[in-house]
Amino acid sequence: MSTYHRPGVGPRTERPGAKGAAGIGAIELDEAFIALTDGVVVCSADDRIASANPAAFRLLGEDELLGRRFGDLLLVSGAAIVQRTEGHVVRRAWFPREERMGVLEVVSTDVAERGWIHTIRDVTAQAEMLRLKEDFLLQVAHELRTPIASMSVSLDLLQQDAATMPRDELEHMLGTLRRSALRLEHLVENLLDAGSIEAGTFQVRTTATTIRQALREALEFVQPLVDAKEQRLVPRIAAGADRVFADPRRTAQVLSNLIVNASKYAPESTTITITTAAADGSVEVTVSDEGPGIPEDERAQLFHPFFRSREVREAAGGVGLGLTICRAIVQAQGGDIRVESTRGAGTSIHFTIPKARELTEEASGT
Ligand SMILES: Nc1ncnc2c1ncn2[C@@H]1O[C@H](COP(=O)(O)OP(=O)(O)OP(=O)(O)O)[C@@H](O)[C@H]1O
Ligand SMILES: [Mg+2]
Repeated sequence: MSTYHRPGVGPRTERPGAKGAAGIGAIELDEAFIALTDGVVVCSADDRIASANPAAFRLLGEDELLGRRFGDLLLVSGAAIVQRTEGHVVRRAWFPREERMGVLEVVSTDVAERGWIHTIRDVTAQAEMLRLKEDFLLQVAHELRTPIASMSVSLDLLQQDAATMPRDELEHMLGTLRRSALRLEHLVENLLDAGSIEAGTFQVRTTATTIRQALREALEFVQPLVDAKEQRLVPRIAAGADRVFADPRRTAQVLSNLIVNASKYAPESTTITITTAAADGSVEVTVSDEGPGIPEDERAQLFHPFFRSREVREAAGGVGLGLTICRAIVQAQGGDIRVESTRGAGTSIHFTIPKARELTEEASGT
């Protein structure tokens, strides 16, 4: 087999008779070896590298490989065996990759005890996905535990003292129970929607409706959370900016996600304003709060699944799906969503919903 020292500069050998079965025009094994994006390293029985393809040099970040012991390279990167089957060993190793560390998977195959073939693949993206998933599961478990723990304390107290409890105390306790149930409902609904967005099966059913109606539905859900923080909700629905073409339940879901955020991230006794304004062919809805704002460098990531700002991560619970879902709904309805924020002086999330065509025509007098 030919030996390649550097990508693209190694010698090539023509081997008559080594043509592929498809005959003239087929890719030869040597060419495939060079073109592969996975690294291939061939070692002698004593683990010395006899040849390697360009991808191996690139993935391992080495200029010289020939004659070196393959095991030494893996030792440096602290490879761990993840699987061992007859004739194969699978290892994972960390390796420097641009600015960060990456993960390589090395499959070593014993070739009739005459040597080893190692194939090397960059699995950084998969490892990152796995890590995100683990973080996410932990976060979901944590999010479930808080309201469940609070429900179970309230239920214990009710079981002991419900008959003799003063009315206001009883109401307070029922309020706590209701808020915990709402948190669970919010979380489960977001998880289900995130799943269908990911699967590409997410749908909206648009019809002629009003923002006022969607807000009414959202308030049934968010009012107890806003009241618990003694915040004030101020709706400012302009007369000419109310009737839209949208999915009523989904629009309520966008509003409730934005109001929950405004309430959760802003301090007690602040004001949350919901404003509508007529824009060109659509209605723009804005949910504003008096919270901490969102750092400029984080704004681009806000709509990415699982993203949570470092500023508020510790202060309030959440799994980082609300805004992703809001964007999916708004875009599916033909609108757009954007954030405006001043550090320390609050956040405004604006989203648009198209007016129904007949409504637009009505407005323009056609
Ligand atoms: N009104 C706001 N003020 C400050 N930060 C906000 C606001 N809205 C969103 N954020 C930031 O954006 C992040 C993403 O928001 P998103 O609603 O997607 O997720 P979440 O609130 O963390 O969790 P959940 O899935 O329960 O909604 C939040 O974690 C928070 O850091
Ligand atoms: Mg949220």
